[in-house]
Amino acid sequence: MTVHINAKKGDIAETILLPGDPLRAKFIADTFLEDVKCFNTVRNMLGFTGNWNDKAISVMGTGMGMPSIGIYSHELITEFGVKNLIRVGSCGSFQPHVKVRDVIFGLSASTNSRFAHQFDTPGTYAPTADFDLLMKAKAEADRLEIPVHAGNILSSDIFYDANPEAWRKWARMGVLAVEMEAAALYLNAAYLGAKALVILTVSDSLVTKEATSSEERERTFTEMMKIALSLA
Ligand code: HPA
Repeated sequence: MTVHINAKKGDIAETILLPGDPLRAKFIADTFLEDVKCFNTVRNMLGFTGNWNDKAISVMGTGMGMPSIGIYSHELITEFGVKNLIRVGSCGSFQPHVKVRDVIFGLSASTNSRFAHQFDTPGTYAPTADFDLLMKAKAEADRLEIPVHAGNILSSDIFYDANPEAWRKWARMGVLAVEMEAAALYLNAAYLGAKALVILTVSDSLVTKEATSSEERERTFTEMMKIALSLA
């Protein structure tokens, strides 16, 4: 049991799926898993363990932003022995060829946050996905014939930016899309010796200003989940 997770050791599987929204975690458990047990209710940050194809897998909300996913991923790795952390989230596209409803693998996560400064590397550390998880996810996407993008994403501390054009500088560097958690997850996994991967569906586009409704997101969400669940 930790400050933020009232579970016992052994309640959480080695592989966990991490949506931002705890109700999304409940939906994933209810829809895709069997023999589900709830392991966390602290702050309503619901967490569940169940079976997918007879393999144990957990799913838990992270909340929004790097401070929040930083806390949960740290406790999951250090106190509960979680080895594989897979964020399943949404993002805003920076690129014309990355369309709403597309799936993205976060190969690396640039950031405007200071989260990495605690590690005091004598230069800029590049937070990256685990190669094994990435290759497995890509193989499953190919098998299911789901097209994916893979590249650098931006983990931003800011949703409502005072400079609404700031994103164009990242877009100019080929960054595919913006979300708010991946860099902290990759940094914690690297520092604490776990594996992490971020899989995203594009919910809106900063290029076209298009946005998907929650019903519209359902189909690509299911595609993203099929890929993520195969990592159990
Ligand atoms: N900004 C940050 N996070 C996001 C966005 C966005 O536009 N869309 C989905 N997650």
